[in-house]
Amino acid sequence: MAQEKYLNEKARESEIPESFVYGGIPEEKPDEKKIQENKFSELDRYINLYTKEPGQLIIILQKAQDIFGHLPEEVQTYIAEKTGTPVSEVNGVVTFYSLFSTEPRGKYTLDICMGTACYIKGAQELMDTLKDNLQVDAGETTPNRLFTVKSTRCIGACGLAPILVVNGEVHGNASSGEVMKIIQKYRKGEDSESKKH
Ligand code: FES
Repeated sequence: MAQEKYLNEKARESEIPESFVYGGIPEEKPDEKKIQENKFSELDRYINLYTKEPGQLIIILQKAQDIFGHLPEEVQTYIAEKTGTPVSEVNGVVTFYSLFSTEPRGKYTLDICMGTACYIKGAQELMDTLKDNLQVDAGETTPNRLFTVKSTRCIGACGLAPILVVNGEVHGNASSGEVMKIIQKYRKGEDSESKKH
């Protein structure tokens, strides 16, 4: 049920006629439904693999986020139904851990640690550099879906403060200049990728 609802919503987002999604005649963008079905099939494989062992909800959610890019309500409901877990419990885990996101994220997630040591060493300046340069607030994603800016609590590497984490990769003793270089590097990478296509 959750899957059907999700597929219909994805179809609406993509402006596919709803009749196409269930029971209609394929007219346009025939791959969209297939792509979503494949994603749910892949998720099913992980659910079947991990629900045999107790306490594997976090791993299933991580896999789901890898597959879908984020964890919208429909995917959470689907996991709850398939694993026999209350939706409230699934949602509680998703909202508790900052590694999970219910909104689509950019290709690169830029996390600034705002713990005490990093804050004292200039984390706010790094955050301001990101916000000014990318024109987004913390928690937001750039319109081109390239960058998401976030703040995080202490990650336990205070000796390297201030810290910027890019898709899980830690950059210690970060400066505003380095932050700018990182942004430019990924922008350039994206430009040359798009020129190839
Ligand atoms: S305060 Fe930033 S790593 Fe500890």
